[in-house]
Amino acid sequence: MKMSSVSIESTTSGPYIRTAIDDLPPYSAGRSVRDAAGEGAAARTLLGLAANEGPYGPFPAATAAAAKQIENANLYPESGFRSLRRELAEFLGVDVARVAVGAGGIGLIHHLSVALLDEGSNIVTCTPTFHAYALDARKQGATTRTTPVRADGSYDLAAMLELIDERTRIVYVCNPNNPTGGIVGRQELLDFIDAVPASTTVVVDEAYFEYARSAGYPDTIADAAFARPNVVTLRTFSKAYGLAGLRVAYLVGSEALIGAVQKVQSNYEVTSVALAAARASLPDTEELARRIELNADGRRRLVEALDRLGFEPLEPHANFLYLRPGDGKAFAKALEAEGIIVRPANAMGDPSGVRITVGSPDQVTETIEALTRMVNASS
Ligand SMILES: Cc1ncc(COP(=O)(O)O)c(C=O)c1O
Repeated sequence: MKMSSVSIESTTSGPYIRTAIDDLPPYSAGRSVRDAAGEGAAARTLLGLAANEGPYGPFPAATAAAAKQIENANLYPESGFRSLRRELAEFLGVDVARVAVGAGGIGLIHHLSVALLDEGSNIVTCTPTFHAYALDARKQGATTRTTPVRADGSYDLAAMLELIDERTRIVYVCNPNNPTGGIVGRQELLDFIDAVPASTTVVVDEAYFEYARSAGYPDTIADAAFARPNVVTLRTFSKAYGLAGLRVAYLVGSEALIGAVQKVQSNYEVTSVALAAARASLPDTEELARRIELNADGRRRLVEALDRLGFEPLEPHANFLYLRPGDGKAFAKALEAEGIIVRPANAMGDPSGVRITVGSPDQVTETIEALTRMVNASS
């Protein structure tokens, strides 16, 4: 029997693809030791400090829980991620209906974009910043309006207010900001939220919350003043908890926003192994505090060394430092020649800057030695 073909005149030879994603660049990840080895660098020992990963691996309890859970990998993860959501709610002192869990902060930013951004709408951010916001906006056919960060690398909230219009669906506040490390304070953030229209969602991205310890840095989950219908906070297990490879993060916000994210996310997107590791990590506040202390110490040593070498890094508040040597790519290339891979900030909107992750104490020593060699080689 002959099948009758559907008679639609096709003007192209392939499948229909939304024009919104024409020319969409792929997510640009920090260069890894694996990437360098693939280019033949295997003979040298390289240290990867380009992705702001925690340097210590998972917490011991998380490793044990993940190993045990993998024995049940034939079973689907818990539907709705209820146990981790309940334990996070308890840990954070909020109602469980205000908590969503997803496959990394990147996954949750994607879901917020799908849930909130129509074709022709816009988002407001600062530059340079985490580039997933603008990429995900583009996928939805939305545009990005942006203004430079302040001199200290923090989001310029006053300038952002000027960019908001009736089509603005999301304003991001990356706090501390990646890659510059600057922070906005509690009162200015509250004043900003007061001034944002009720129909615009404020996403406070606190991927580096655990590392930020300055007085005045807001805790937008514990502080009830931030519990507003149009505010949501993002945190992740990828950084201070050392679980970047397992992909698990969470949002805390109004029930309306959390419900919207849960509608668009896929049911089993966080694996059972990731859920087990995250649940085992949460109670170990001592291990978290130990790692935060080590980071603060390494950060201080790196600032001193960079100052001594004449680079004037911005004041850091997370697990990385930011400097503007003029040509971020050239700086990264020269430092890689000394064995350290760091992240030029061009993909995040600042070709003049470079970001260096704070490693373990030994890695900090290695970084300082490599920086010193690099400077000596060029003088
Ligand atoms: C500011 C910021 N937000 C979110 C993320 C997403 O992290 P993940 O998807 O690993 O949870 C990152 C990762 O580097 C980040 O820097």
